[in-house]
Amino acid sequence: MSYHHAPPLFSAPNQPTVLVTGAAKRLGREIALTLARAGWRVAVHYRDSVEDARKTVADCAELAGASASFRANLGNETAVRNLLPNVIEKLGHVDALVNSASTFEHDTPQTFTFAAMETHLRANTGAAILLSQALYDHLAARGEARGAVVNLLDQKLWNPNPDFVSYTLSKAALESANTMLALALAPRVRVVGVAPGLTLTSHMLSPEKFEALHKLSPLGRSSTAADVAATVAFALANQSITGTTLLVDGGQHLMKFERDFSLL
Ligand SMILES: NC(=O)c1ccc[n+]([C@@H]2O[C@H](COP(=O)([O-])OP(=O)(O)OC[C@H]3O[C@@H](n4cnc5c(N)ncnc54)[C@H](OP(=O)(O)O)[C@@H]3O)[C@@H](O)[C@H]2O)c1
Repeated sequence: MSYHHAPPLFSAPNQPTVLVTGAAKRLGREIALTLARAGWRVAVHYRDSVEDARKTVADCAELAGASASFRANLGNETAVRNLLPNVIEKLGHVDALVNSASTFEHDTPQTFTFAAMETHLRANTGAAILLSQALYDHLAARGEARGAVVNLLDQKLWNPNPDFVSYTLSKAALESANTMLALALAPRVRVVGVAPGLTLTSHMLSPEKFEALHKLSPLGRSSTAADVAATVAFALANQSITGTTLLVDGGQHLMKFERDFSLL
C-alpha cells in the first residue's frame, strides 16, 4: 500500500485539530503551545526551521497527545494547496487554522518593487485565503458545521508609517480578506483577526531598545507572546465572533509612530 493510501498516523476523531502556520518558533510556537495546553492537537507548519519545528511538535505532543510538522513555502501556490491535504492525510481531520507565518522584509515607497509586493502578498495574504478556502471545503465534505480561522494582523494597520510598505500592504489586504472571508464562509467557518503590537524583538533592535519601545503605549506595556496566544485561543473558542479584529497591543494603535519600531 502506498503512503498516499495509508490510514492517518494519529486518528483521534474527537480531538479538535488546528493547523498553525509558522509555528516552529516565536509567536507561532507560543500559539501552538497555548492551543495544545487547551486540548488542541496541533499541526505545526514551518518553512526553514526544521529543528525548531521538531521541538514544537515534541512539546505539543507532550501537552495534547499528538502533533506533527508540515513543511511548505507559503509563497508557492502548489505548496499551499498541498498543505491542508497533507495535514488531513496524516492527522485525519482539521477544524481550525491560525495564519501566523509571515514574510517581513523591509522596504519603503522609495525602494518598493513589484517583486517585493508579490513576495509579501503571496505568503501573507494569498496563502491565508487559500488555506481558509481549503478548510471550508474540508469541513463541508465532513458535514462539520463549525470551524474557525484566525489571521495574525498588526497594530500598524491602524497606525501606519512608510516602513515595511509591502508587508503592511499584505496585512492590510489580509484585514480586508478577513471581512470578506467571514461573510463568504459563514455560517460554517468564523474568521477573526488578532493584531499584536510590538511583541517580540527582531535582529534590528537591541534588547535595551526593545524594552524601551515595548513600554511605549498608553498602557505602559505592549503585548506579550502569552497575551497574543491567549487571544488566539479565545477567538477559536468563542462561537459568536467573526469578521472583526482583536487588537492586543497595550493601545499602541492609538498612538502615532513616524517610523517602524525597528527604525525609531
Ligand atoms: N513579533 C511581533 O512583535 C509582531 C508584531 C505585530 C504582528 N505580528 C504578526 O504575528 C505573526 C507572528 O509573528 P512572528 O514575529 O512570530 O513572525 P516571524 O518570526 O517574522 O515569522 C514567523 C515564521 O513565518 C515563516 N515564514 C515566513 N515566510 C514564509 C513563507 N514564505 N512560507 C512559509 N513560512 C514562512 C517562518 O518560518 P521558518 O522559520 O520555518 O522559515 C517564520 O519562522 C506574524 O503574522 C506577524 O506579522 C508580530
